Amino acid sequence: MDSIFLLILCAFGIFIFLISLFLCLVLYNNSSYPVIKRSDKEKHFYDAKTKESIAFPSLSDGWSVNLSVIIPAFDEENRLKPMLDEALEFLEKRRNERNTFTYEIIIVSDGSRDRTVDVALKYSEKYGSHLIRVLDLKPNRGKGGAVRLGVMSCRGAVVLFADADGATKFSDLSKLEHSLKTLTKHDYLNESDIVSEMNALVCGSRSHLEEESLATRSFFRNLLMHGFHFLVWSLAVRSIRDTQCGFKLFTRRTVELLFSNIHVERWAFDVELLYLAEMFNIPLCEVAVNWTEIEGSKITPVLSWIQMGKDLFMIWLKYKIGAWKVSTKSS
Ligand SMILES: *[C@@H]1O[C@H](CO)[C@@H](O)[C@H](O)[C@H]1NC(C)=O
Ligand SMILES: *[C@@H]1O[C@H](CO)[C@@H](O)[C@H](O)[C@H]1NC(C)=O
Ligand SMILES: *[C@@H]1O[C@H](CO)[C@@H](O)[C@H](O)[C@H]1NC(C)=O
Repeated sequence: MDSIFLLILCAFGIFIFLISLFLCLVLYNNSSYPVIKRSDKEKHFYDAKTKESIAFPSLSDGWSVNLSVIIPAFDEENRLKPMLDEALEFLEKRRNERNTFTYEIIIVSDGSRDRTVDVALKYSEKYGSHLIRVLDLKPNRGKGGAVRLGVMSCRGAVVLFADADGATKFSDLSKLEHSLKTLTKHDYLNESDIVSEMNALVCGSRSHLEEESLATRSFFRNLLMHGFHFLVWSLAVRSIRDTQCGFKLFTRRTVELLFSNIHVERWAFDVELLYLAEMFNIPLCEVAVNWTEIEGSKITPVLSWIQMGKDLFMIWLKYKIGAWKVSTKSS
């Protein structure tokens, strides 16, 4: 009897110890505002024509092209090429149709270990660095960190973030643009100036495809998916169903406000982004996009789901206890 009591006491002691350790880590691990590190080399891109390295502009410089497309890429030497071809076909076609339309693509290699940077630089050389720039990050930051440094280097009045795997049909950008027009009551394609100064965020969404994929996926994956949705809904974001879709369109002002404030640099950065968007009352909407599962997913199931769950909990806890703060002044 005595030994059982002792055992319970011990277990309780260990439990309390772990909880306090965890709280200490939570409270003292990070500073309240995100610390954004960027080496001098990462502030430049390579221009093949002049063979020089040129400094990226900053978000505070104001816009000078209508649309920026930010593509985070980690070990994407195979999938990047078809994705870029599809994007360029769409964007060049538009440039031919409307001669005032200007755009840029920024490919952010997130510490890639393969030939991603070479592939991207080939495109930059072919199209010119006014259209395609390569931001070569070393070391790896995580997708959120990569997208952040990409948008901080962009010139667009409106900014699209698109995954390098090409899972979304790029021409669905028209659908996102249409919703942006509905949210802002202006068309950035003929009023870039006005739209860049407004707040709005349009999220591509795959939730209409959920029913279909329910049948084809394993029970375990479906369980994880529902668990994740439930966690996101209860801890952070209620107005958007598919938080993780890698196809989102922002105005320049919204980019400046949100990306200077996010703390999470891994997969869950989308959730923090939308959490903040709801906190700032930024007009939001979700648009169905076509989506094909492309071979070579980067999420290693169990481990990244645990990581994701932890990040979600952190987002909720740190904002609740005030350990993370937001700044509404643009950087
Ligand atoms: C913007 O473009 C649309 C067609 O795309 C046109 O109907 C509208 O008049 C234009 N607005 C301005 C201010 O040019
Ligand atoms: C698009 O950007 C160019 C500058 O790159 C600008 O001259 C043009 O007016 C912009 N279009 C609109 C509709 O603002
Ligand atoms: C997806 O594409 C198919 C065929 O290309 C089309 O029939 C369908 O309407 C599209 N779905 C959405 C949501 O755009």
